[in-house]
Amino acid sequence: RRIYMLTPTKTRSEQKPDLTRLAQTLYLIPNLLWIIIEDEVKPTLRVRKILESFNIPCVHLNYPTPSYLKITANQSYWRKPRGMLQKNIGLDWLRNNTQPTEDALVYFADDDNTYHWRIFREIRKVQNVGVWPVGIVGELLYEGPVCTKGKVHSWFCYVFRNRQFPIDMAGFAIHLRLIHSHKDYYFNVSADSIGQQESHILSTMTTIDELECLANDASKIYVWHTRTIPTYLTSEDRLKRARLSYDLLEEV
Ligand code: UGA
Ligand code: MN
Repeated sequence: RRIYMLTPTKTRSEQKPDLTRLAQTLYLIPNLLWIIIEDEVKPTLRVRKILESFNIPCVHLNYPTPSYLKITANQSYWRKPRGMLQKNIGLDWLRNNTQPTEDALVYFADDDNTYHWRIFREIRKVQNVGVWPVGIVGELLYEGPVCTKGKVHSWFCYVFRNRQFPIDMAGFAIHLRLIHSHKDYYFNVSADSIGQQESHILSTMTTIDELECLANDASKIYVWHTRTIPTYLTSEDRLKRARLSYDLLEEV
């Protein structure tokens, strides 16, 4: 069973190392199509070169986040939705390029998370919607469903407990059939949907009773919501201000 993995990716100096790490994980995974959606006006050569160097089956798309939805310098990162419009482009691609009858799974994967190869084995078990714990998220070592015999009866989480499905985007996968049957479903980017995107898509496409609890009844962590900190390139800025330039080894 094929996995379609949707990854939005933002231009930044840590992008190439992050995508390298992720590509090396995907190198281990058979029958996966990686749909990369760059937050750019057009797909860049920089990202294409990384993809080509790994020879992973992939589709390279783009969609630029309009400036009013971008985080401003003095705003916390969580004040704006991240990668939602890019995920919507991925949903459109799936609806236009796959058959509703195909037995396949869809997974939304940030470019900076850490994925054990075993998470993909769990994703392939999903019949409708599957859930599992995610490490280092929600101000805890993990958040996730509390399950017995494959059924979810409650959630382990601390912050934003008003969420209907208190789970990170990396903590579930959806059968491709549901993406086709909810053909008008798109992620919302309005201010009041911040932190609610996971609950919104899950409450549209499933119910708590229907969820399939994976990762050995949610007792294993196979994905971590790691975040790559933006590095201060202070000396780089000094060189620019002094109009000193040096040869870049390649497009970085
Ligand atoms: C968390 C979730 O794990 C994301 O799946 C969700 O999109 C996000 O919150 C949200 O609710 O908006 P987080 O680590 O906080 O993710 O966000 P980032 O990793 O900074 O961004 C998520 C993805 O979108 C990344 O792959 C990133 O490269 C991409 N992104 C981010 C863009 O394409 N454009 C942006 O302006 C920002
Ligand atoms: Mn992230």
